[in-house]
Amino acid sequence: MRPDTYMKSSNGQISIGGVDLQDLAKTYGTPLYVLDYHTLHQRMCRFQEAMASLHVPGQVMYAGKAFLCRAMAELVAREGLGLDVVSGGELVTALTAGMDPQRIVFHGNVKTREEIRLALTHHVGEIVVDSLDELRRIDQMARELGMVASILLRLTPGIEAHTHEFIRTGQFDSKFGFALKEGIADEAVSVALDMSHVRLDGFHAHIGSQILEGEPFVANAQALLAYSRSWWERARFWPRYLDLGGGFGVRYQPEDRPPELESLLARVKDTLMEYTPEGATPPELWLEPGRSIVSEAGCTLYTIEAVKHVVDEKVYVAVDGGMGDNIRPALYQAKYAAEVAGKPENRPEQVVTVAGRYCESGDILIKDALLRDPQVGDLLVVWGTGAYNYSMASTYNRVPRPAVVLVHDGDVSLWVERESWEDLMRQDRPLDLVTSLKA
Ligand SMILES: Cc1ncc(COP(=O)(O)O)c(C=O)c1O
Repeated sequence: MRPDTYMKSSNGQISIGGVDLQDLAKTYGTPLYVLDYHTLHQRMCRFQEAMASLHVPGQVMYAGKAFLCRAMAELVAREGLGLDVVSGGELVTALTAGMDPQRIVFHGNVKTREEIRLALTHHVGEIVVDSLDELRRIDQMARELGMVASILLRLTPGIEAHTHEFIRTGQFDSKFGFALKEGIADEAVSVALDMSHVRLDGFHAHIGSQILEGEPFVANAQALLAYSRSWWERARFWPRYLDLGGGFGVRYQPEDRPPELESLLARVKDTLMEYTPEGATPPELWLEPGRSIVSEAGCTLYTIEAVKHVVDEKVYVAVDGGMGDNIRPALYQAKYAAEVAGKPENRPEQVVTVAGRYCESGDILIKDALLRDPQVGDLLVVWGTGAYNYSMASTYNRVPRPAVVLVHDGDVSLWVERESWEDLMRQDRPLDLVTSLKA
């Protein structure tokens, strides 16, 4: 929920990474995304160490969709993780940051020709193919470029993880991947194996996000390995890589209990060993955590601009941000915890609704927030916003997007500058009516 370096003084001042949040807000303004280096580093190490303790070849690929900017890609490379990207923009960010292309996996259910060309010409490690059309396009483009593309096929194993339907992806009728049903995946594997300009390196399945149980991950590994065995028996094809995606849940609320990573991975390893046929080598295990790396490292600072009493004793605490910087509550009823900075314990607590500034009734950041004496001008801190907040931010209502800062050991580093009104106007052009309208 909160970053590991969270500290609160007796007068209620809150600091992260040794930096007082009210000082940060004064210097950088609000809304402001704050990331704690220590927490980020600790989460990356945890995945790396859990993987190393299995003593099987494996790689951790950070899923950039959770949060990506140039500095983050540089940090990911520095910490020794690979990167999962899903667009030309994420790929360019990774390449600009100096990430080794071989450690990049390119995902997405739609990749344009331009994006595929970018990936092929930079020799990214693997392209994860999502449809037969894309498979044929990659084969043809690789032929034109005189190369062989390394690919994984994204499969949908029919696993329905208990998470919100918008972030569930493992079910057979998902828009992602090839279903392990009705011969759909079989056709894709056969076509790929017959192609001369793609090399099928293995399988991928990401079954959903914010999964708080261990079982679906093990079931995913079992499904992919059982499927792999069917190809071993049919054509002696066995995957080099098995990519189980991300989806590991985090704590947004005190009662959230994420699965224990180490024991979960130990079960995955047992499955790997159990299913690998004699004469074949166990596939290299890949994981793609996004949220579980960055969510708890982040928080968002807002200024309370109004405290409004409406009917039935309901109180709205309105802040200077909202769905433009955090769409998740409106998109899939995500729940967050928040705290007012600078409030000693003796101030009264109150249940309020935290409202965003955007012109939508649905722009409610937190429905029932227990806040200590919220007043106009106070700093509200929303916890756990490191993942899928900045990366999903928009300029709705033409509100510029917040800055991102990293804090560590009392120092602050600006990762992304605050957008300005001038930035918003930069791509706009004045009215220039087409000829027929001018007449
Ligand atoms: C293919 C793939 N890998 C990894 C992830 C990261 O998931 P999470 O942030 O829940 O770990 C996603 C999320 O949508 C994904 O689609």
